[in-house]
Amino acid sequence: MSTTSTPTEAASPKVTLPLLAEKKRRGEPIVMVTAYDLPSAQVAEEAGVDLVLAGDTAAMTVLGYPATTPVTLEEMLVLTKAVRRALRAPLLIGDLPFGSYERCHEQAIASAQRLVKEAGCDVVKFEGPAADRAEAIISAGISVMGHLGLTPQTATALGGGFKAQARDAVAAHKLVDDAVALEAAGCFALVLEAVPAEVAAAVTERLRIPTIGIGAGPATDGQVLVLNDLLGIFEEFKPRFVKRYAHLRREMVGAVSSFATDVRARRFPAEEHCYAMGAEERDRFLASLAEDA
Ligand code: KIV
Repeated sequence: MSTTSTPTEAASPKVTLPLLAEKKRRGEPIVMVTAYDLPSAQVAEEAGVDLVLAGDTAAMTVLGYPATTPVTLEEMLVLTKAVRRALRAPLLIGDLPFGSYERCHEQAIASAQRLVKEAGCDVVKFEGPAADRAEAIISAGISVMGHLGLTPQTATALGGGFKAQARDAVAAHKLVDDAVALEAAGCFALVLEAVPAEVAAAVTERLRIPTIGIGAGPATDGQVLVLNDLLGIFEEFKPRFVKRYAHLRREMVGAVSSFATDVRARRFPAEEHCYAMGAEERDRFLASLAEDA
């Protein structure tokens, strides 16, 4: 079976929150990817995905930081605006970066408003179980996607590390309780990252809102991958849950190497890449240069 998908026709309907809820009810898998700039968002749009997250994984996959924590709201706004310019049908999720929502409800609301007002996000996402924070943002009129399990912004600080979460009964039960609390707070969907498949299945069964898994097994209502992992552009490391559907970094290195080889061998540019003057203008030009000599 082929692993490549077929682009959908250009006029797919705009994805809405009721449509996502309907997909869960119908058992229709929800597709989500990250995007960080115009071309990656255009690819997501053309491929017909449902949700696009302008994720803080941009910190590592695009901006070269060693973790997601250093990326600022200002940087996220620049990237997210570029994504917005390319997207029509998929729902655009703005990602609240580390330090932009933890201090108090007012800070979280102000940051969420910037993602909506300045970058044109449809909704926002933040990491962690703070149901009261979600409720505050939702009360301010902005829909929120939750994110539980591995939460990279605090993975180091909380000692959990970049590894699967909720692997013992107590932690798994707490995750279910946190998920139920986020749903009760009004979240419209929940990302579950790097948790055992059984735990994700239990959460998915208990919630009315859709769950979107990344390293959370097959039972979630949807799946998300980081685009640069999926495309094989980011090759620094590969978590177990990543499936590479292409190896674009190899392709990109090959293309740039070919360009370098052509330039060094004086094969590029060829005639078809050059602009020409009309013969008459060329003769006048050469004559004018000769007069100067
Ligand atoms: O920021 C991000 O890319 C994410 C995904 C891993 C879901 O949160």
